[in-house]
Amino acid sequence: MVLPVQVRLIDVGPRDGLQNEKQPVPADIKIELVQRLQQAGLKEIEVTSYVSPKWVPQMADNHVVMSGVARQPGVRYSVLTPNMKGFEAALIDKPDEVVVFGAASEAFSQKNINCSIAESIERFAPVVQAAKAAGIAVRGAMSCTVGCPYEGDIAPARVDYLAGLMKGIGIERVDVADTIGVGTPRKVQAALEAALKHFDLDHVSGHFHDTYGQALSNTLAALEMGVWNHQASVAGLGGCPYAKGATGNVSTEDLVYMLHGMGIDTGINLDKLIDAGVFISDFLQRKPNSRVATAVLNKRAG
Ligand code: HMG
Ligand code: MG
Repeated sequence: MVLPVQVRLIDVGPRDGLQNEKQPVPADIKIELVQRLQQAGLKEIEVTSYVSPKWVPQMADNHVVMSGVARQPGVRYSVLTPNMKGFEAALIDKPDEVVVFGAASEAFSQKNINCSIAESIERFAPVVQAAKAAGIAVRGAMSCTVGCPYEGDIAPARVDYLAGLMKGIGIERVDVADTIGVGTPRKVQAALEAALKHFDLDHVSGHFHDTYGQALSNTLAALEMGVWNHQASVAGLGGCPYAKGATGNVSTEDLVYMLHGMGIDTGINLDKLIDAGVFISDFLQRKPNSRVATAVLNKRAG
């Protein structure tokens, strides 16, 4: 077993985290959060999504947020674009990467993006082509790769199938997402193995929600396979509006603490990251959903 010496993290908090907030979060708060994340050393940030404002009202300010961020060179700003309408809207804001998002489960595909898996691929294909023509990278998020809120357990063969379809339309890298955080290490490894049949190690990332408290263990299991791209959410923000009861991704703070403790480099300053988490949590009038942030804040107070 050779663990990666370095992990590349995408903070998905501004998108995956905030999309789930019921109270409106003003664009200037979202912009400040993105800027604090880049100041903390994040090199990839998922900023917003270009989806229907009727479906996800919180992301309706996508243009304001994307155009308001004082971008830093060397940082990749990604956005979700489920179809050509979303891609055309995003193009104006010059994202570095667009993310199409499909599901390993048919029921979740219908609930989340209102079409079957096969139809979703038909919608993604022109997005991939247009993105490549515009020099924009393309990632494919694969939801419900271990469990689905509507279908229950999801077999690795479903992930194999979806990853193959995504590869077939030219998607460059994929996220293996445990949308509802039900996965445990061996199940997550099986889902990752299915994705690795189609994409190499540099192009598969882990996206683990922490609903059942398994996300760090699942990340460790992924690291043991050599998977070194991971996604996390500052202050543990979030959930998915179409996966009731599911909580946010593993907090970036907890993940960074674990990785640094293992001697794995992330390029992230944990103190500044915790401050970013406090900033957004203060706005939301709650404490960061991160054990590490809580421990460090208690220590600072003492
Ligand atoms: P639809 O209703 O099937 O689309 O929605 P449509 O093409 O039939 O159009 C219907 C209306 O939506 C029209 O407007 C379109 O213009 C508009 P109307 O004529 O009624 O006024 N429309 C759009 N508006 C803005 N942006 C667009 C867009 N497309 C159509 N891109 C659609 C299909 C995908 C748009 C819809 O189902 C949707 O917006 N769903 C939201 C999905 C979402 O954001 N989910 C959360 C993110 S995914 C996630 O969190 C999982 C992830 O983290 C990984 C994991 O953890 O699993 C990535
Ligand atoms: Mg997610």
